[in-house]
Amino acid sequence: MPVSDPAHAIEGHRALLLAWYHRAKRALPWRESRDPWAVWVSEVMLQQTRVDTVVPYYHRFLERFGSPEALASATEQEALALWSGLGYYRRARLLQAGARAVVAEHGGVVPADHAKLRGLPGVGAYTAGAIGSIAFGLRVPLVDGNVERVLTRLHGLSGDPRTPPLRQTLWALAARYADHEDPGSVNQGLMELGALVCLPQNPQCLTCALRDPCAARAEGTPERWPEKAPKKVPRAEAWSALVAKSEGKVWLVESPRGRWEGMLVPPMVAGDAAALLSSLGLAPERVQRRGVVTHVLTHARMQITVYETALDGAPPHARLYPLAGLNAQAVPTMTAKVLEFVDGVSTKPPRRAGCRRGPAP
Ligand code: ADE
Repeated sequence: MPVSDPAHAIEGHRALLLAWYHRAKRALPWRESRDPWAVWVSEVMLQQTRVDTVVPYYHRFLERFGSPEALASATEQEALALWSGLGYYRRARLLQAGARAVVAEHGGVVPADHAKLRGLPGVGAYTAGAIGSIAFGLRVPLVDGNVERVLTRLHGLSGDPRTPPLRQTLWALAARYADHEDPGSVNQGLMELGALVCLPQNPQCLTCALRDPCAARAEGTPERWPEKAPKKVPRAEAWSALVAKSEGKVWLVESPRGRWEGMLVPPMVAGDAAALLSSLGLAPERVQRRGVVTHVLTHARMQITVYETALDGAPPHARLYPLAGLNAQAVPTMTAKVLEFVDGVSTKPPRRAGCRRGPAP
């Protein structure tokens, strides 16, 4: 059991890790600050999102919301607008709920206490570990996908890291690593090694600072770790959406619920053309089928059949928005893809890959 590995083994690994981290770490904007709010924002953005994608969002978001107070007093729409394109919008809502709790319960100051951090809405074990160790130097652990990979390989740990026995072992082991005078560097070092060297495929063992003590390297097939159960295939969902434009404007609705709650989406339904037309009270001859946009989310693969119409009246609950102004609005990537598919107008700069044209009738 690695939790019973002798203390000198953990100390030895950690010394190698820290020496490497201080030499090789990337110069990332959130590493220039120990402001707990900046750390919090960066760590929430980095969940499920690549560093390169996060950097411009991080700057824009903190420019506008430089403190918990600034985000707490903004509308949800303002918060979502600066998140739009990053995906996983629930993160933005929870960050705002967390900021509001900091204002209401802690006088606007992010608490330097692990239990109080954990008590904030949206702050789970990972985020509390990151804020606590990086911003406040608390000796608290964190485990993300990178840490999972590094530790299961280094210690040759069997089992699925998402299931309880190994999960608990990993947190206990990470806590032993974080029990150090610079826990922020230890935690970031583990994550950085996973991001740059101990890669899921083709790990760079030859140049790895932890190659000598690594159990997976000694065994010869490090990719074998972590022993994750195969991922579930995202379920296929059939949707139909309507794009109705007039004079550089488009009809959009504020999604009342579900994954895009509060964000601007085209009138759309889960179902086929008949379902879409009946929800809008439109006759079939008023619309033209344009093709299919595929939008893949974590748990669903949306196949969105896009219809276009020249509407003179408003679809139910819709409002007209200028296409050119959409980048300042809370527009999810799915909406941008659907609109670009029809008219080639770019609503926002980043991340527009993966839009596939289906056959027009
Ligand atoms: N991934 C998420 N947060 C990180 C951090 N602070 N350093 C390295 N990788 C990370």
